[in-house]
Amino acid sequence: MDHVYPSNPEFVAKANVSGMDAYRALYERAEQQPEEFWAERAAENLHWFKKWDHVFEWNPPFAKWFVGGKTNVSYNCLDRHVNGGRKDKTAILWEGEPGDTRKISYGELLRLVCRFANVLKSRGLKAGDRAIIYMPMIPELPVAMLACARLGITHSVVFGGFSAEALKARIQDLGAQVVITADGGWRRAKEVRLKDAVDEALAAGDCPTAKEVIVYRRTASQIAIKEGRDYWWHELEEGMSEECPAAELDAEHPLYVLYTSGTTGKPKGIMHATGGYLLQATMTMKWVFDIQESDMYWCSADIGWVTGHSYIVYGPLSVGTTTVMYEGAPDTPAFDRWWSIVAKYKVNIFYTSPTAIRALIRQGEQWPEKHDLSSLRLLGSVGEPINPAAWEWYHRVIGKGRCPIVDTWWQTETGAIMIAPMPGAVPQKPGSGTLPMPGVLPQIVDLDGKPVEDGKEGYLILRRPWPSMLRTIWGDPERYKEQYWSRVPGVYFTGDAARRDSDGYFWILGRVDDVMNVSGHRLSTMEVESALVKHPAVAEAAVVSKPHEITGQAVCCFVTLKKGDHDPRKLGVELRQWVAHEIGAFARPEEIRFTDALPKTRSGKIMRRLLREIVTSHTVAGDVTTLEDMSVVTRLAAQQDED
Ligand code: PRX
Repeated sequence: MDHVYPSNPEFVAKANVSGMDAYRALYERAEQQPEEFWAERAAENLHWFKKWDHVFEWNPPFAKWFVGGKTNVSYNCLDRHVNGGRKDKTAILWEGEPGDTRKISYGELLRLVCRFANVLKSRGLKAGDRAIIYMPMIPELPVAMLACARLGITHSVVFGGFSAEALKARIQDLGAQVVITADGGWRRAKEVRLKDAVDEALAAGDCPTAKEVIVYRRTASQIAIKEGRDYWWHELEEGMSEECPAAELDAEHPLYVLYTSGTTGKPKGIMHATGGYLLQATMTMKWVFDIQESDMYWCSADIGWVTGHSYIVYGPLSVGTTTVMYEGAPDTPAFDRWWSIVAKYKVNIFYTSPTAIRALIRQGEQWPEKHDLSSLRLLGSVGEPINPAAWEWYHRVIGKGRCPIVDTWWQTETGAIMIAPMPGAVPQKPGSGTLPMPGVLPQIVDLDGKPVEDGKEGYLILRRPWPSMLRTIWGDPERYKEQYWSRVPGVYFTGDAARRDSDGYFWILGRVDDVMNVSGHRLSTMEVESALVKHPAVAEAAVVSKPHEITGQAVCCFVTLKKGDHDPRKLGVELRQWVAHEIGAFARPEEIRFTDALPKTRSGKIMRRLLREIVTSHTVAGDVTTLEDMSVVTRLAAQQDED
């Protein structure tokens, strides 16, 4: 029997969507009359310079929403609140890792954004251009995003933990004209030297489109400034006006591209459009996070990932809430840093990842117990399946049994939350994302697209396009078609396995492709393999994930070496560091195993499935009839037993 947790009656009474009937009514309306449903939401919840001509256009698999409508994300997140009585309300409440703080009102944020938009304009940037943003978690990161959005410059935020190599690949793929960065940021009391990585990425002239770099001063450390290419943010801002009209952009104008891992070594540029994206980010703030006017809302993600885009910046600011931002690590200076922030700012809604929860569980309850967490009224989880034990700890120790938990399933591609409980309506079961959002039609199917019975595992697909759906893969519409719309023809393929229980609740089981999920960060096995084979000693590499108590999954690499004298211990350390340098520290393999051969099919394909079985269960049970040389597997399994 699954344990069911209904939300507490006090929460239900005050919720934006209260009771199952209210949820069902919304869901059914959206299912039966999707265009009317979304048109009403768009008119009520967003500002439009010009209304759309028609709501939805579908040239499978290419969707357009609010066609002919004109709007602006920055206007919706700022001007309308400033004009509508929230001028002095705090928009961003920021805490730096060293303890410095900033409180920025909607009025002030609008001025900061306009001033920086004027800087971008003065550098000749205009709608349709592209900007890479590679910054620490400081308020200037949303300022830069909103300034781009104000002018129609498509931005791509690159997570500050990515390496120079990864940054370079993104600048090139996007053909960005400008890179917006900072000297560095603080993490675990150390400086993350971002500008050095930008210098490395641009060094060899490999990024010919990126002619300028704008540098915000955060750490005030020594950095190189290249004459004629690098400019200080504060110097460019001198004398700039604090007014800048928001461009009246097409609803389909590309707002941003966010790179994520796919099944090949090359990251995909997920492209999101303006109107539909903002609408669904806005609605899910109201439906899932139950945002009320006085809420203090905190999402602990990094803005470099989609969670930060939709639920630190665009969603929260669009609904006019106060969004808390924290620069650094949860364990700096001690394991109660997050709880001290919750207590200090009286946070009401807190949204984080299962990996973070598991890491905090390991440290013990004494850390949260040191702080007054009574302001919390709602908790959220995202990025990977949450194991019931972690859910229950979160509910009991952080939420004191009082706060509902919204386990939110979605993806970079979906732009906004797709499956999650509306906390005032849907009772929760630990480990289940529960029920879909209005307008989202999930189904569990087999590879022929036939629905599977409730309780059985299958592929999770979404049957109908939704407003915040990715529009394409930047520069590669064929890959977009092939990746999402071809496996099961005509429907969106999520890449996740799932099952539905007899109450209609969805349980996400994990990826079915070669995508790993390490600490809620997406990483492809091929990306790590490509990084490894660039090392001069490596002949071949095969990468699989293995279950990990804290990070959910961990990276495990099988490597064959070129001829030569190698010290496996030294080389193991070196290769782990190599991957961190090629991709980013979060991709550092947990384990490197050297082997004299990899298991392959007769046609030469590496059988990753067997390797996965070896790392998880030490034995190989599945079908091995296509294997070329069985002795390889026997040797690998034996090696495992020796470890
Ligand atoms: O496998 C699912 C897992 O994360 C994948 C999407 O990763 P990404 O695009 O990086 O976006 C993460 C943040 C939205 C999904 O295909 N995933 C995400 N949320 C959940 C989840 N798995 C289970 N439960 C979740 N709540």
